[in-house]
Amino acid sequence: MATDLLHPPEGAAADWTIPQGWDRYTAEEHATWDTLFARQTKLLPGRVAPAFLAGLDVLRLSKPGIPDFAELSDRLMAATGWQVVAVPGLVPDHVFFDHLANRRFVSGNFIRRPDQLDYLEEPDVFHDVFGHVPLLTDPVFADYMQAYGRGGQRAGAMGAIERLSRLYWYTVEFGLVRSGDALALYGAGIVSSFTESTFALEDPSPHRLGFDLERVMRTRYRIDDFQQNYFVIDSFDDLLDRTLNTDFAPLYDALQDQSDIEVGTILPDDRVYTRGTQERVRGHG
Ligand code: PHE
Ligand code: FE
Repeated sequence: MATDLLHPPEGAAADWTIPQGWDRYTAEEHATWDTLFARQTKLLPGRVAPAFLAGLDVLRLSKPGIPDFAELSDRLMAATGWQVVAVPGLVPDHVFFDHLANRRFVSGNFIRRPDQLDYLEEPDVFHDVFGHVPLLTDPVFADYMQAYGRGGQRAGAMGAIERLSRLYWYTVEFGLVRSGDALALYGAGIVSSFTESTFALEDPSPHRLGFDLERVMRTRYRIDDFQQNYFVIDSFDDLLDRTLNTDFAPLYDALQDQSDIEVGTILPDDRVYTRGTQERVRGHG
């Protein structure tokens, strides 16, 4: 684990990457992956965006055990030119953005303990690989992720990383997408979570609101519980179009004079898919 975010920890390269150390996983660790994998693949069909399921196939992720990043990268490289590289937990923003901008997805190499199947604080290899990597086989989503990395490099120079990170949170981590008349999951934080996979789609508590770039960049998020609001995109094409072809610099400027929006709020201009009861929050009251 990195003890500070200024220097790569001992054993890590200048770009913070480390060897995955696939040979060092124990049988118990591989079994943890298999348990998590079996639970999610049972739950997700009919709930997740079809591109995600297609990605699992392209990557042959149903093979038992924690995937070997070298093998995974070969398949991913052939599909969309992306790779998966191992890092020791969280990395500094500029390191993260640089990897994305070069079509490298950074993943933790450790796996959660058997008593942490449902909850852990730091992303492990199951969240990172199962949650994020399948959609990187989708050409449009793959381009979105690279564009995000480049956008991060610009945002860093403009002091706007917090704004941009909200976009990541409400799309890459916790996004929903329209699928015919219904909604589908695509955010990695949802699809890698047994409990949030049903909560995000089916629970009456959260609001589900149409995605709007400015709105999302003004909206706070919570990291300690299920989300109180999810944002729904029309399609990956539409998401890429709205982000890639918009210069964020004037947006960041304009947003400086605007207050943040608290979680669980519905604004007059929001496109409301479902108005949540917010009962989960009140219950915690
Ligand atoms: N267009 C954004 C900018 O001007 C960059 C970006 C693209 C951010 C795609 C996120 C996703 O900074
Ligand atoms: Fe993640």
